[in-house]
Amino acid sequence: QSGLGELARANGVTFGAAMQSGLLRQDAGYAAAFAREAAIVVPEYEGKWGVLQPQEGRFNSAGLDAMMAWGRRAGRPVRGHALIWHQDLPDWTKQALAESPERARAVMAAHIGTILEHTQQQIRDWDVVNEVVADPPGSDTPQASGELRDTPWLRALGPTYIETALKLAREADPTLRLTLNEYGIEEDTPAAAEKRRRLLALVRDLVSRKVPLDAVGLQAHLQIAKPFTPSVLSGFIKELQALGLAVLVTEMDIREGGEVPQEIAARDALVAERAYAFASTAVEAGVRTVLTWGLSDRYSWLATDPAVALPDKRPHRGLPLDADWQRKPMWDALARALTGR
Ligand code: G3I
Repeated sequence: QSGLGELARANGVTFGAAMQSGLLRQDAGYAAAFAREAAIVVPEYEGKWGVLQPQEGRFNSAGLDAMMAWGRRAGRPVRGHALIWHQDLPDWTKQALAESPERARAVMAAHIGTILEHTQQQIRDWDVVNEVVADPPGSDTPQASGELRDTPWLRALGPTYIETALKLAREADPTLRLTLNEYGIEEDTPAAAEKRRRLLALVRDLVSRKVPLDAVGLQAHLQIAKPFTPSVLSGFIKELQALGLAVLVTEMDIREGGEVPQEIAARDALVAERAYAFASTAVEAGVRTVLTWGLSDRYSWLATDPAVALPDKRPHRGLPLDADWQRKPMWDALARALTGR
């Protein structure tokens, strides 16, 4: 039976997943699953600042290069994640950012210029800025700051760091698709509504000032415990599209929480129901790229990040394949949603 990538392509949708290049060598099932299911891949970790430039001027793209090599062999594109983010910044970078705005801009320019030059033959879409909007009151991790997340970049350069990064990327590679990637903007809660409002205000300002920006990425780390209303999501997607921006789903997975059923079948049904509701709404609203944050529960970040662990520590079941690469009801839900059925 065709994988999700092939099924989605028949409907004009590109489906893929986050990959860890180190696992390609370690786990034969891993490479086979990506070859079967993913029409595009994104580095789960290998494209982050701390990995790519651990010391100033010393670049280490071995992991990203391995993924690009897999992509060339398998005939699959790679999307880039994430040039400017507040996580995975080495101490040398934090010190440079704290020195002066000129030094901060110089290290930003060097990183963006070097990485885009290195990857431009194969990566045609990068998350240039990641998670720049502050989490509002009422969200899981509220920030007591303004509308923009309080990060070393904001402290070094002020709000203009966002447009500076976008302009540097455009200068470095004029035909690259520049994406602004965000989470916590998909569900029907007051906090998500406020975060959507903040994001829309930001991108409206950027677009009105002709700052280079092509797309917004909805990370879609969804939580069953939070309400989801299709019309809220589709309205938001359409507002972004009305600004001339493409909308992608970049990191989809489903988190259980609250009352988690004992039986696996009941859990998988709830996960599949949310996956279908979200993905079908996104595709109907015009989203043409959907990535999940991994393919199998075996390697999901949900299994390792204590911040998202279930109270009874049972492993999450938030990705389309189980720990043995078997397709789950979520797989079927995505197959239906991506093919418009
Ligand atoms: O590979 C090294 C290993 O060599 C080392 O021994 C080990 C001990 O430090 O670390 C390993 O790297 C880990 C890496 O994942 C690969 O597994 C890093 O510690 C760990 O911090 C890293 O976590 C990633 C995290 O982003 C931070 O970069 C997660 O895999 C990844 O799922 C997560 O993804 C983020 C997105 O980028 C942005 N949106 C949220 C999403 C989930 O948090």
